[in-house]
Amino acid sequence: MAERKNSKLTLRAHDSKFSAISAAALGAFIAWGSLSTGCIPGASDPLVAAVWFVAVTFIFHKLGLSWALLQRRQLLERSLKESMSRIRRPVQELQHQAGGRPIPPYHHQDFVRQFLPDRYENLSYLGEGGMGVVYRATDAERGHEVALKVLSPLVQGDPQAVRRFLNEAGTLGDLDHPGVVRVLDVRSDVLPYFSMELIKGTSLKEVLEDEGSLQVREALDFMTRFADALAHIHGRGVIHRDLKPSNIMVGPGGGLTLLDFGLARAGGARVISRTGDVLGTLRYMPPEQEDGSGDVSSASDIYSAAVVFCEVLTGVTMKRQLGRAHDPPFEALENCGVPSEMIEVICLCLDSDPACRPANGADLARRLELISRPSQDSA
Ligand SMILES: Nc1ncnc2c1ncn2[C@@H]1O[C@H](COP(=O)(O)OP(=O)(O)O)[C@@H](O)[C@H]1O
Ligand SMILES: [Mg+2]
Repeated sequence: MAERKNSKLTLRAHDSKFSAISAAALGAFIAWGSLSTGCIPGASDPLVAAVWFVAVTFIFHKLGLSWALLQRRQLLERSLKESMSRIRRPVQELQHQAGGRPIPPYHHQDFVRQFLPDRYENLSYLGEGGMGVVYRATDAERGHEVALKVLSPLVQGDPQAVRRFLNEAGTLGDLDHPGVVRVLDVRSDVLPYFSMELIKGTSLKEVLEDEGSLQVREALDFMTRFADALAHIHGRGVIHRDLKPSNIMVGPGGGLTLLDFGLARAGGARVISRTGDVLGTLRYMPPEQEDGSGDVSSASDIYSAAVVFCEVLTGVTMKRQLGRAHDPPFEALENCGVPSEMIEVICLCLDSDPACRPANGADLARRLELISRPSQDSA
């Protein structure tokens, strides 16, 4: 489970519970007072009195909770504004030094060092995407190495990016599976960052660049682990929305870890995007996710997973036209010796209609198990 002892956000979560309970207590007191002074018509009927008491207490509880959430949001906004104004100048200096060229990673490292607590030592660069820069670091308090994901200084000025970044840490804190990276500590002051378990291995992107593709058996094992991890996140109501090789780590023993939940959406949560924004990577994205307004569901992750599966089996990144699903690469898969039942499942996952795909990770895992069972029996 995630430890967030030092997080300001956690403190505020406690505050909201406290405010809601205090408001409910105040509501109960007012309800009791109005009943005992006899200003409520029909209060002599115990049923009317009970309904009045419960209703007033409930309304006050809700009001207290809403007030606390509003306070919490305002505090978060204020702390983000402060951190952005403190960091804007050094970022501008850094950009000025780079003279319009992309800022190389070692510059980020020197730059972020001054905003991180001393407990993180020996920073070295691990990788980066659109949202954050990830460093390997020794956490002196924990006594072991961790991965530190720091909000990229280049998106510091974008409040939506900051929210997405904090959303990632929050979502990861609710997940607990060997196939999903574990978050350790989250901080939202000055430069937002969070620490994660350090995954030993390489990203699937690098594996595919080095090795081209995986053997069919290896690939089936990979697909099964992938589906298990998806079953866990979908079971918790989370949709990843950005599954692609650079967001998947492959360990030395073939273990797999899903990273980068920056675009993830928890069940019922608001999508953190501006209207019309295309979030995610078009090549791996199902058509319904393309315009940012479609209904994105766990079946959308299944589609992206299938695009990754095709790449793992053939070594080729599939392209597609806007507004259309990918053409399933039957021939390429057959030429790589992929058995027909595997091709069938992959093509089902690539259906343009989400309702025709396996509904979620658990459904996909069941179908893959049916394929791998006979091959295991015969081994
Ligand atoms: N926990 C981790 N352990 C090891 N390497 C990691 C870890 N998290 C991220 N990385 C590396 O950093 C890269 C970028 O991380 P990611 O979370 O995808 O950032 P972004 O949100 O900016 O795309 C990954 O492709 C991976 O190589
Ligand atoms: Mg990424």
